[in-house]
Amino acid sequence: MGLNEGRDETLIKLVEMTDDSEISSIKKIVTDIIAIINNPRSTVQDLKEIIEIDPPLSAKVLKTANSAYYASQRKIGDIEQAVIWIGFDELKEIALSQKVCEIFAKEELVDGYSRILLWKHSVAVAILAKMIYRRELRKRGDDIYAAGLLHDIGMIAEDQFLHDDFKNSLNKFTEGKMSLADAEFDVFGYNHADVGRALTDHWNLPREMVTAIGYHHDTFSVPRKFPVMALTLYISDYLCQMSGIGYCGFSHKIDETIFQRCLNALGLEQYAFKMIAEDLKKEISRMESRGLL
Ligand SMILES: [Fe+2]
Ligand SMILES: [Fe+2]
Repeated sequence: MGLNEGRDETLIKLVEMTDDSEISSIKKIVTDIIAIINNPRSTVQDLKEIIEIDPPLSAKVLKTANSAYYASQRKIGDIEQAVIWIGFDELKEIALSQKVCEIFAKEELVDGYSRILLWKHSVAVAILAKMIYRRELRKRGDDIYAAGLLHDIGMIAEDQFLHDDFKNSLNKFTEGKMSLADAEFDVFGYNHADVGRALTDHWNLPREMVTAIGYHHDTFSVPRKFPVMALTLYISDYLCQMSGIGYCGFSHKIDETIFQRCLNALGLEQYAFKMIAEDLKKEISRMESRGLL
């Protein structure tokens, strides 16, 4: 993808470091769930088999099925019932969110950044991107939700393995002179989108998703073959940061012109987003009431 060799080598090293870490502990289940999402013949039974062998995920699914949002007359005590009660479409998102969430669970706050805030941001981007796909672009794919959840995963890898340098890039960003992506580039020679691309490529995730994650801060360079998901991620990222939901990783350099260019490229009108922004807030409170945020 046009990376220079030196940068490629350091990126590969970072991705290799993640191989024996908590980041890759979610790899198997996340890639299995994405494969289920991408297979039109898959059923709720396939998902149930994955959930059953993962105790924290089973616990979360049971807790969700018994939450106030799904409140049934009786307590739901086994996975089979919980899966039926929640339904396939919701369950795909719950299972994916819960697994990805595991690597964001850490409280430390550095220069306005924490993994928890980044998690809130990632969920909001995933929900918004899905709404844009379904309502405005009339696209069905569930991949967009997964791409939203994973789009900033590169920051987790930097935070975990290159912590001091990551802190330096956060400092540079909070000084207000440049975006986080540019500050990372100054410090590492690449940014978290490059890391996310290399990592999800290493996990063999679908090509369009890998591309969208890799170009979510550089929409000018998106390969022509896969523009829609990357541009949708950019728009969602931009709007979530404008609304101050979760961590706002490039708020010092929000560029209205790029945003408008992405809208034009997708044939979207800005007024459509007023209602979507309201619905995003409702959806986030719905997730909170289900214990998912
Ligand atoms: Fe980002
Ligand atoms: Fe983001």
